[in-house]
Amino acid sequence: MYLAVLKEKRPYETRVAATPETVKKLSALGFEVVIEKGAGEASHYPDDHYETAGAKVAATPEKTLEKAQVILKVQPPMTKMDGGVDEIKLLPEGALLLGMLQPYTKAALIDEYNKRKITAFALELAPRISRAQAIDVLSSQSSLAGYRAVIEAANAFQRAFPMMMTAAGTIAPARVLILGAGVAGLQALATARRLGAIVSVFDVRTAAKEQVESLGGSFIEVDSQESGEARGGYAKEMSQDYKERQAAKIKEVIQKSDIVITTALIPGKPAPQLITSDMVRVMKPGSVIVDLAVESGGNCEGSVVGEVVEKNGVKLLGYANMPGRLATDASAVYARNLLNLLTLCVDKASKSLKINWDDEIIQAIVLTHEGKACQEKKGAA
Ligand code: NAI
Repeated sequence: MYLAVLKEKRPYETRVAATPETVKKLSALGFEVVIEKGAGEASHYPDDHYETAGAKVAATPEKTLEKAQVILKVQPPMTKMDGGVDEIKLLPEGALLLGMLQPYTKAALIDEYNKRKITAFALELAPRISRAQAIDVLSSQSSLAGYRAVIEAANAFQRAFPMMMTAAGTIAPARVLILGAGVAGLQALATARRLGAIVSVFDVRTAAKEQVESLGGSFIEVDSQESGEARGGYAKEMSQDYKERQAAKIKEVIQKSDIVITTALIPGKPAPQLITSDMVRVMKPGSVIVDLAVESGGNCEGSVVGEVVEKNGVKLLGYANMPGRLATDASAVYARNLLNLLTLCVDKASKSLKINWDDEIIQAIVLTHEGKACQEKKGAA
C-alpha cells in the first residue's frame, strides 16, 4: 500500500498530516510512505526525521503522488483556481483521500473528486460518539485553538491575569468572557482559570452550564425558554427574539470584561454575529477580543481574517488558523487522528485496505466514492 503525504500549500497552513511518529506506525501497518520534501518544515519535523522513521522523501508533488493509493492532507487539495500546483489533477484515480476537506465551504470540490473517482473522507464530519473520539479532528484542533486564544489574548493585553497583592498595592484579576462553550471554549476557560482570571461563559446549549461550572466558570443565562441544542450536540441558529435578549445580556457583561474569546459556530452556516461595533465601543480601552470564528464569518463585527484591528483602544485579534500557531502539537494530534482512522481501514493479516462501509463512522465521513457524492446535503449546504 502506497501512502503519500503532501506539503500543505494553502495560506496560513503550517501543519502537516503525518509526523515521524505516525510514519513509523503507518509503516508497521503495511504502508510505504512517501512524503513531499519540506512537508514538516513549518511544524518543525525535518525531512531526515521522516526518513529515519521509514519514509521516502520526494522532491515534487508529482513524484510524491506517483503511486499513491492513500493520500493524507490537512487542508483540501489545491485546484487550478487556487493558483500554483493543481493537486487534484495529480491525485491517482481511485485513491483514498483523508483530510479536513471542508465539505460546506469547499462543496465544489466534490465534482472534482468524482471526476477522478477519489474516495474522499472529510474527517470533520465524524460523529461525536465515544468510539470516534480518537479520530475527532475538530476536538483535537479546537482544544489547542482554545488554549492558544487565551495565550494570544494574554500577550496582547497590557495587564496581568491573576490577582497580585504587592507592597505597591493590589492588581485586580482579569475578567474573561467566553462565548461558546464547545471544545475550544471549555479549553479557553480552563486555560484562563489556570492563569488566575475570573471567567464567565455563555452558550445557547444549556447542557454546557454544568461543564462550565465544573471548570470554575460562571455560566451566563439568557431569560428564554428556547433551546439551542440541535442534532449531534451541535447548536442551531436562534430566533430573532432570542438573539435580541442575548445581545442585551452580552452588552451588559462585556462592559466589565477585559478579554473576550469568541468560539461560537453553527455547522454548515456562517458563524453567528454576537458582538456588534456598539458593544466594542463600550469596552474598556486595552481590552482584547479574540475571534476564533473569524474564518467562518466571525462572531465579532469588524474582525478581519489574519489581522489585528484596533477600535477605540480595543484590539480585535482575527488570527487565521489558530491551531496552526501551535503547529508541532496540532500536527502531532491531527496525524494521530488520521493514523487511528487508517487503522480501522486496514486488514492487519493481509496488510491491505479493507473499508467497512457499514461502520457509522465511515458512513458519516465519506464524501465521495466510486464517482458518486455520498453526502449530498452536507456537500450542498
Ligand atoms: P462548535 O465548534 O460547533 O461550536 C462551538 C460552540 O458554540 C458550541 O458549544 C455551540 O453550542 C456554541 N454556539 C453556537 N451558536 C452560539 C450562539 N449563538 N451563542 C453562543 N454560543 C453558541 O462546537 P464543538 O466544540 O465542535 O462541540 C459541539 C458538540 O459536540 C458539543 O455538544 C460538545 O460537547 C460535543 N462533543 C462531543 C464529543 C464526544 O465525543 N462525545 C467530543 C467533542 C465534542
